[in-house]
Amino acid sequence: MLPPTISWVDDHVELLDQTALPRLRTVSVTTVEGMVDAIRRLVVRGAPALGVAGAMGVALAARTLDGDALADAAARIGAARPTAVNLSVGVRRALAAADGGPDAVLAAALAVRDEDVRSCHAIGERGATLLRELCGGDPLRLHTHCNAGALACVEWGTALGVVRSLHEQGRVAHVVVDETRPVLQGARITTVELAAIGVPHRLVVDGAAGSIIARGLVDAVVVGADRIAANGDVANKVGTYPLALAAARAGIPFVVAAPESTVDTATPDGAAIEIEERDAGEVLGKGLTLPATQAWNPAFDVTPNDLVTAIVTDRRTWRPAG
Ligand code: MRU
Repeated sequence: MLPPTISWVDDHVELLDQTALPRLRTVSVTTVEGMVDAIRRLVVRGAPALGVAGAMGVALAARTLDGDALADAAARIGAARPTAVNLSVGVRRALAAADGGPDAVLAAALAVRDEDVRSCHAIGERGATLLRELCGGDPLRLHTHCNAGALACVEWGTALGVVRSLHEQGRVAHVVVDETRPVLQGARITTVELAAIGVPHRLVVDGAAGSIIARGLVDAVVVGADRIAANGDVANKVGTYPLALAAARAGIPFVVAAPESTVDTATPDGAAIEIEERDAGEVLGKGLTLPATQAWNPAFDVTPNDLVTAIVTDRRTWRPAG
């Protein structure tokens, strides 16, 4: 059993520190600045977990602030990372309860948390049914990228929620896990989750993914999302788009699993999604290359809707390309 991703304990937030994984370490967050820092440094990460963190950050702020000062604090939390829409959705939902005082804001934050739990279980069931329809009855060989599991949410997960629902039905042969450079959410987080629930898996370097798919070694790709535009273009961890290209070329399903709160109807298409640029130091590492080497570190990419077989949410199965 892994510790919970995020919990409200007494008067503060407890986070499983995802920068330390696979080592298990929890950290306490008691202030708005602490929450902004935790979000920026990926102590808490993954779109649904960011929604809950944002809402709980506003609940922290509401203990000492109100009016414009509370709104300013909420804006700072919401701007901590730009791509995952769930962060600003969670912040807005908590702030909308501000007139009711701190207890009402906390209740709204806990409702965001509870809704995420329900959504992930619904996504898991719906996604498992879809993949059985698309791929047939044999145990499936699945491929995933980054971490879209319990640790990216509150529990169960989105893409890994689908894996977990299939696994409970005895329908998973194994999962191929991309290591997910530069900060290795696949190697450090997804493997830990799959080991905890007993799903057979193999870690691969990101550059191996395309040829693994081309060689017919997986039946389907299933990933999460940080923001889904109104037309069904999908932003997810950088390296997702090449998987979608490879899946289309190989004729296997490319399935996106995400809560309805990740669908941003105000964003018409993928070109309008802000892609987070992170510190070059994440790519350069320590002593990996020449000290003078420059790096570029876009954290996400956009998969156009015509490469997406289906988007599975808690409410529907959406085939954005028709
Ligand atoms: O930078 P991260 O670790 O926050 O990126 C996470 C992802 O890209 C996930 O795939 C996405 O948020 C879906 S999580 C259910």
